[in-house]
Amino acid sequence: MAVPLFDTKTPLAPLRGEIDSAIARVVDGGRFILGPEVAAFEEELAAYCGADHAIGVANGTEALTIALRAMGVGPGDEVVVPSLTFYASAEAIPPTGARPVFCDVDPETYCVTEQTVRAALTPRTKAVMVVHLFGNVAPVGEIEALGVPVLEDAAQAAGSRCADGRPGALGTAATFSFFPSKNLGAFGDGGAITTRDPDVADRARTLRFHGSRDKVTYEQLGYNSRLDELQAAILRVQLPHLDGWSDGRRAAARHYEDGGLGELVTLPVATPGAEPAWHLYVVRHPRAGELAADLAQCGIGARVYYGTPVHRQVAMAPYADGAELPVTDEIAATHVALPISPVLSAEQADEVVEAISEILR
Ligand SMILES: Cc1ncc(COP(=O)(O)O)c(C=O)c1O
Repeated sequence: MAVPLFDTKTPLAPLRGEIDSAIARVVDGGRFILGPEVAAFEEELAAYCGADHAIGVANGTEALTIALRAMGVGPGDEVVVPSLTFYASAEAIPPTGARPVFCDVDPETYCVTEQTVRAALTPRTKAVMVVHLFGNVAPVGEIEALGVPVLEDAAQAAGSRCADGRPGALGTAATFSFFPSKNLGAFGDGGAITTRDPDVADRARTLRFHGSRDKVTYEQLGYNSRLDELQAAILRVQLPHLDGWSDGRRAAARHYEDGGLGELVTLPVATPGAEPAWHLYVVRHPRAGELAADLAQCGIGARVYYGTPVHRQVAMAPYADGAELPVTDEIAATHVALPISPVLSAEQADEVVEAISEILR
């Protein structure tokens, strides 16, 4: 039995009629940019996260740049960011004029910690970008206690929870990506910024539309970065299902645990109090690369995501400053993502576990 790395189709199949109607509503209404669907989705997303404001933007990368600028980050500043993340987390920083400063992560949770962030702080640190990696929830409160504002990169953590609430309402601001394979995925690109701070929200809203409030006067250089009406309408159909899908992702992780996967490889560990909506189910093994290739041979989707961590990417050389991030390097060399989705069954999990057992025998 083939097991795909993701399954975005099955969870959406029962919603097809509703999605078709939502698309028709937009087409019939004739408003395609910044209309009623985006406004309604922004309210619904903010309420879901427990944030007061949401601002729909074009994608998760621009969400980060705009959020940082809305938080006051600019030339001469530093932003601490993990290197174990999708490249875009760090890439979003230089367009603000600030420098990324890379920090290490925890070997079990894959997330930044108060200690790894503290090691990267300097008098020029203006903000910390925590990444809720793979759906795990980084300890935002502990990092804020260091006295620096936190931007959450929640691109991979829609639907996750922790003792303090949900990603999206834990720091000064947060960002989401609605890339189709994400936990909440559009039918194209999309992103959002959430915040409880009305001034940050106001600046982000202005920045997404060319730095203008009234489309006549332009206060600052901004962006053309908007979530479009069609994507917002599609996301509105999906949002009420996010919690159910997230439960499915957690159940899939339990299927792996119950199937004995932990005896073969090192399983990911939720941060204390977190209930991750695992976006990627990333395990560790010294032969991770070989495992990914051999699983693919058996028809099982498996992938090494961040084999070259961001601080070792060519474009980041001006910012790497000889950063020594031993845990990041170790995880980069030993991780592999296994199939996960809201509908991964116990049988599919057993199939994956069995294949891994055979390969590692
Ligand atoms: C952690 C993280 N940050 C940022 C992004 C960028 O989002 P987008 O692809 O929507 O620009 C992604 C996803 O692709 C991501 O996984």
